[in-house]
Amino acid sequence: MKLWGGRFTKPTNQLVDEYTASISFDQQMWRQDIVGSLAHVAMLGKCGILPMDEVKAIIAGLKKVKEKIERGQAQFLIAHEDVHMNIEKMLIEEIGPVGGKLHTGRSRNDQVALDMHLYLREKLLEIIQLAMYLQKALLEQASQHLDTVMPGYTHLQRAQPVLFGYHLMAYVSMLQRDIERMQEGWKRVNLLPLGAGALAGTTFPIDREFVAELLQFDGIYLNSMDAVSDRDFIVEFLANASLMMAHLSRLCEELVIWSSQEFSFVELDDAFCTGSSIMPQKKNPDVAELVRGKTGRVYGNLVGLLTVLKGLPLAYNKDMQEDKEGMFDTVATLHGALALLTPMIQTMQVKRERMRQAVTQDFSNATDLADYLVRKGMPFRQAHEVVGRAVLYCIEQQKYLLNLTMEEFHSFSAQIEPDVYEALAVETVVNARNVQGGTARQQVEKQIAQAQEWIKHTQVWIDRTSQKVMIESLVDVGSPA
Ligand code: ARG
Repeated sequence: MKLWGGRFTKPTNQLVDEYTASISFDQQMWRQDIVGSLAHVAMLGKCGILPMDEVKAIIAGLKKVKEKIERGQAQFLIAHEDVHMNIEKMLIEEIGPVGGKLHTGRSRNDQVALDMHLYLREKLLEIIQLAMYLQKALLEQASQHLDTVMPGYTHLQRAQPVLFGYHLMAYVSMLQRDIERMQEGWKRVNLLPLGAGALAGTTFPIDREFVAELLQFDGIYLNSMDAVSDRDFIVEFLANASLMMAHLSRLCEELVIWSSQEFSFVELDDAFCTGSSIMPQKKNPDVAELVRGKTGRVYGNLVGLLTVLKGLPLAYNKDMQEDKEGMFDTVATLHGALALLTPMIQTMQVKRERMRQAVTQDFSNATDLADYLVRKGMPFRQAHEVVGRAVLYCIEQQKYLLNLTMEEFHSFSAQIEPDVYEALAVETVVNARNVQGGTARQQVEKQIAQAQEWIKHTQVWIDRTSQKVMIESLVDVGSPA
């Protein structure tokens, strides 16, 4: 018998049951569902909507259901459609018809919204923590490479020399923005939809502030029609996740390039690479490739949900059940990527000599020769032209700028003096960029110090915020003394 069976004259077609059920995936939220119910029923008792003995029976029953699920003895059935009705059925089996009083003043519409808010706020914290660990790993590698020079690229053509630590710190900044976006989104995740009822509120004298306090929400939806229709908080998460994946994907693309034989800038640890079934010599950066590849599904999840929502009239529509799989998948995908990238970065071997060779046997100091001439009084545009001709000459002669004799230099400009060799040396070139945000060692050290502050703040935020999402402790908060 369906929980909503009264109005129907016959059972649903079995294909309909299978088609409309969400239990295969929403059972992931069973803890959130029970915690939400505990808070709800505690409130029903406090407001005198249910007598205390019934409240206690329901709470005891919910705890039994919880234990049953934890022991793996509960069976989620398609016949009961979703996690909400499965748990309500289990409760009624456990304590009899009084279990049917739990749903007083509540609808699955505000219940499912509550479950997703509870779920996502926990997951946001986990993801922020993992992203911060990756920042740490990058920062630690960066600290080891404050004198490792490499070519910086534009158009994937060697552009100007940089420190390897500087390059890595760019990713630390990118991840910082990702973390801050997730923290910003938290505000809209940590709002209570329960009490909205199906769409219009409820006829019972409920106390939403009390529920919000029990569940540690920072606020309550102002309008109940909005509360049950809103999936913005998931869209925001998917958008923020998409951008984070874009960053991870760019990092992974660089790891793939750097670990190619052509570059040989880094060697990824054997534990994070895989082999080929036919070519015995192969060591492939599969993890980096898969992170890059899985970025697509996260973007897909974002566009998928936006598309589901775009034409929906208020309030709840069954289409909205399609909000969950993309959210779960995105959480799992980000989790996997962050958890693997951190040890991969920690164990990566950096080939300093190879990088140095790359940066000395090229023209990445050409800008510095132009800047040198500018310091001698030449307009930059003219200096650019002069150096361009010098580079062309070098290419023809199979030389680099530092191989030119004074005589050769003079054929391009009389203003070049013997101090040019020092000016074009790779260390000089890197350390000359000693401006805020630049690649000079001193600047990278400042960037690292700033990032350490960020990391400290993130940890403080996580510690403070995680007190609100301790599901287990909420279960106890949900029981009246
Ligand atoms: N399984 C449903 C979902 O995920 C729960 C809400 C159902 N509400 C309803 N009115 N049918 O969206």
